Amino acid sequence: MELLEWNAGVYDSLPLPHKRWGAAAIDRLGLSGDETVVDIGCGTGRDAEHLLGALPGGRVIAVDGSRQMLEQLSSRLGDRGDRLRVVHADLREPLDLGEPADAALSVATLHWLPDHDVVFRSVAAALRSGGRFVAEGGGFGNIAEFRRAVAAVGGDTGDAFWNFADVETTVVRLDAAGFTDLDVKLTPDPARLERGEQLETFIATVLLGAQLRDLPMSEQRPFVRAVADQLAEPVIDYVRLQICATRR
Ligand SMILES: C[S@@+](CC[C@H](N)C(=O)[O-])C[C@H]1O[C@@H](n2cnc3c(N)ncnc32)[C@H](O)[C@@H]1O
Repeated sequence: MELLEWNAGVYDSLPLPHKRWGAAAIDRLGLSGDETVVDIGCGTGRDAEHLLGALPGGRVIAVDGSRQMLEQLSSRLGDRGDRLRVVHADLREPLDLGEPADAALSVATLHWLPDHDVVFRSVAAALRSGGRFVAEGGGFGNIAEFRRAVAAVGGDTGDAFWNFADVETTVVRLDAAGFTDLDVKLTPDPARLERGEQLETFIATVLLGAQLRDLPMSEQRPFVRAVADQLAEPVIDYVRLQICATRR
């Protein structure tokens, strides 16, 4: 399947819960300030910017598959010389960065990647022994109510492209990929939005990009509104899979 493009400008204008998910994940990395950190699925660079601030003597390697997201990252961060390396890559394939990193971060990206064995092996290969991996993404049960709303209007519930993994399977995969000190949990974290324009733009930009690209432009807004109308509350019922691990 062709990689999904994102409306990066609109994405950044939204009240994203991703902002606090990213900040919490960076806190859990426990950085000292001179590390090289890989951001797996860096999007528009919000967390890369935060990381650069936390790493006065360190570097960020920002990896993503969306050209639009990476263009937005470049206009946000500008030229940081050696402190920022931007890598355009399809994370469904094994990743070879050609240099060892001290830590890896991933926010709201894992559930877009169909094979977590491949991803975890890529992250393990990117890290030095003892390197920390902190990640979060949609986990088992994520957006179940929202997907019921999509199904109720005849939409695609994303079985073919969303991967909402559970704790037990994730622990086994991390161990097999070479990680230890595993702390993996599922946390419900619903996000409330304002009904109308804000909710519909959020749904169109953050949630239904894959479904909408197959619809003619004229049908996209009516479809999004129909999904929004099915929600009893303007709430997206996120359940986050949170991972802390150390490379053996
Ligand atoms: C919801 S966004 C999260 C971006 C950012 N981490 C944040 O928290 O705002 C998901 C990101 O995963 C990237 N992504 C999804 N599938 C990918 C793939 N196969 N290869 C590379 N990047 C991918 C998208 O391009 C997008 O930037």
